[in-house]
Amino acid sequence: MLSEQEKREIEVEFPRYEQKRAVGIEALKVVQRHRGWVSDDALRDVAAFLEMTPDELDNVATFYNLIFRRPVGRHVILVCDSVTCWIMGYERLVQTLSDRLKVKLGETSADGRFTLLPIVCLGTCDHAPALMIDDDLYRDVDPARLDQILERYR
Ligand code: FES
Repeated sequence: MLSEQEKREIEVEFPRYEQKRAVGIEALKVVQRHRGWVSDDALRDVAAFLEMTPDELDNVATFYNLIFRRPVGRHVILVCDSVTCWIMGYERLVQTLSDRLKVKLGETSADGRFTLLPIVCLGTCDHAPALMIDDDLYRDVDPARLDQILERYR
C-alpha cells in the first residue's frame, strides 16, 4: 500500500504530464526516498496508482538504473564505470573501496552501511575518477582520501 504521503508526492507530478504513466520514474523515486528501495509489492502498488501494468513499470525501472529493486545499505556508492574513469584509476578506486568495505561491486557491507554499485559515466570526465555517495558527487577521487570521505557517512 502506498502511504497517503507517497500518494500526495506522486500526485504533485501529475499536472506536468499528459498521462499518469509518464510519472513512472518520479513515482518510483518517491517510493525509494521513503523506503530506501522499491520492492515488487511497492512496484505493483505504484503501477496500479498510475494505471499501468507492473511489467510496464518494471521496464521503466530497469531502464533507469538509479531505482534500486533490491534492498540497499543506508548509503549507496555509485562508482563511475566508463572509459575515462577506467583510464584514470577506476580499478584502484574499486579495489580500495572493496578492501575497506569488504564487499564486491553489487554488494552491501555487513553492517548495512554502504552498497557499492557501478554506474555509467557521471558526466564529469575531466575530473575522473568520479563517484557519488547518495546525492554527493566526488571528483578527482584519490583512493588515499577515501577513508576521509567514507567517514562522512554513518
Ligand atoms: S567516464 Fe567517469 S565521469 Fe565520465
